[in-house]
Amino acid sequence: MKLLITGASGLYGSKLAKLALSKGFEVYSTDIQRQLVFGKFIKLDITDKLRVDKVFTEVKPDVVVHAASLTDVDKCELNKDLAWKINVDGTKNIVASTENTNSFLIYISTDYVFSGKKGNYLESDKPDPINYYGQTKLQAETVVQSIKKSDFLIARPSVIYGSTPAAGKVNFALWLIQKLKQGEHIKIVTDQWNTPTLNTNLAEMTLEAVERHITGIFHLSGSTRVNRYEFAVQIAETFGLNKELINKTGSSTFNWSALRPADSSLDTSAAQLKFKNKPLPLAKALEKLKKELSLNETQ
Ligand SMILES: NC(=O)c1ccc[n+]([C@@H]2O[C@H](COP(=O)([O-])OP(=O)(O)OC[C@H]3O[C@@H](n4cnc5c(N)ncnc54)[C@H](OP(=O)(O)O)[C@@H]3O)[C@@H](O)[C@H]2O)c1
Repeated sequence: MKLLITGASGLYGSKLAKLALSKGFEVYSTDIQRQLVFGKFIKLDITDKLRVDKVFTEVKPDVVVHAASLTDVDKCELNKDLAWKINVDGTKNIVASTENTNSFLIYISTDYVFSGKKGNYLESDKPDPINYYGQTKLQAETVVQSIKKSDFLIARPSVIYGSTPAAGKVNFALWLIQKLKQGEHIKIVTDQWNTPTLNTNLAEMTLEAVERHITGIFHLSGSTRVNRYEFAVQIAETFGLNKELINKTGSSTFNWSALRPADSSLDTSAAQLKFKNKPLPLAKALEKLKKELSLNETQ
């Protein structure tokens, strides 16, 4: 089966490509930049409609996983035109080409489509984003939902982390482990709640959706609701690091350009019922992360 991934140099896309290759998929890894890439690399800017059309016509993918996005929430707030161009117009290009090639489309959305006033969001809850990143991702969901044969899956993860830096960025878990190992004191907010998602867990659920052709909207995040401070403490405990270095703070002490939802945690019961690869509880996901990191060190 031919699998084309956009954003394949990223934290999630690179893990998905690696896992898909190991399962025997023919993997086409596309991204605007070549970094961490598994499978055949194709340089592709999703905002270039002609190029998107050309690549899709040549590859004729059975399945497309669209993960490319401007993911920097503050950058989206400060550079709205660019955010719209990549996240919405880019998705329009992907959707049009997907319809031409009759491919099954999986779109990676976000918990930030919700305002965060409620928490434990169900798929049936009405999205109402409070920042521009969330608005563009929600608009992209609407574009995906316009696919004529409804041959799509919208997957919503929340705070993705993993064992390898990707797309030139170190994710929260790796950053925290590094800081604690260096003995640095850090301040982490207690007023932002999510359901953190291990990239491997999301990649496994995605590939199951590919294999079983699961359509619709699913919350494919971790299953444990925590605030960022609790997340940090659990990471410290799992890795035997000094949690006393982690101090509590509030979001108001940071000068972020974009508002963050207070509680965008996702209810994953629908995915728990539907998928054999379940959204993992945090403790299990962190044990998996620990194993992956020790493997990285021995490789
Ligand atoms: N990370 C999270 O906590 C999180 C949480 C919820 C949902 N999500 C969603 O999950 C998906 C994957 O996230 P991630 O953390 O893996 O993101 P990531 O590491 O930032 O990867 C996204 C990739 O897309 C690329 N990209 C940006 N503009 C592009 C363009 N015009 N054409 C082609 N590629 C382009 C990026 O390149 P550059 O690095 O050069 O921009 C990057 O390699 C995204 O759709 C994101 O919205 C992420």
